[in-house]
Amino acid sequence: MKTLVAYYSRTGNTKKVAEALAANLNADIEPIVSYLKDKSMASLAMQAFMRVRAKIGPTTKDTASYDLVVIGSPVWAGKISSPIRTYLAQNKKKFTSVAFFCTHGNPSSEASAKMLESMEKLAGKKTAGMLDVAANDVESGAYAEKVTRFATALLESPSSP
Ligand SMILES: Cc1cc2nc3c(=O)[nH]c(=O)nc-3n(C[C@H](O)[C@H](O)[C@H](O)COP(=O)(O)O)c2cc1C
Repeated sequence: MKTLVAYYSRTGNTKKVAEALAANLNADIEPIVSYLKDKSMASLAMQAFMRVRAKIGPTTKDTASYDLVVIGSPVWAGKISSPIRTYLAQNKKKFTSVAFFCTHGNPSSEASAKMLESMEKLAGKKTAGMLDVAANDVESGAYAEKVTRFATALLESPSSP
């Protein structure tokens, strides 16, 4: 199965999860670049909350050529980060199969579950799986086991191409 892991990460948590996931899935990786880095937290949160599509840099991988694209975003103001909102909209018509993951500051995963569901809606495809990882699990290293379990489930999923 040809797999791509695409993600946006501002402070490195989502990047760590994405890299571990790509290693587990033997996948290519696409870091999404945005031009938001110097904006204040309040402005980023507001953009996410208002469902703004941030400007993103050119991507290098054609999502249409992958069996599965796994997309990761931090949770911002309970919503999808604005760079990933753009990426999903740009690639919606090209996905064969999708799965989603997010990282979040709040140890409770209620808001992130909702956010992952809205990624599914935006992608216009039923997801093959969802994973949420709290920032403190990234810090402690506990995310590694979660990622391995998620990757194994994706590889074994009957909906895997
Ligand atoms: C603008 C902004 C808004 C955030 N809003 C939330 C939130 O609503 N809920 C939450 O659990 N974490 C929130 N966080 C924390 C991030 O989701 C968390 O730190 C995440 O792991 C950051 O990922 P990154 O290091 O890949 O950028 C927010 C962070 C930022 C910068």
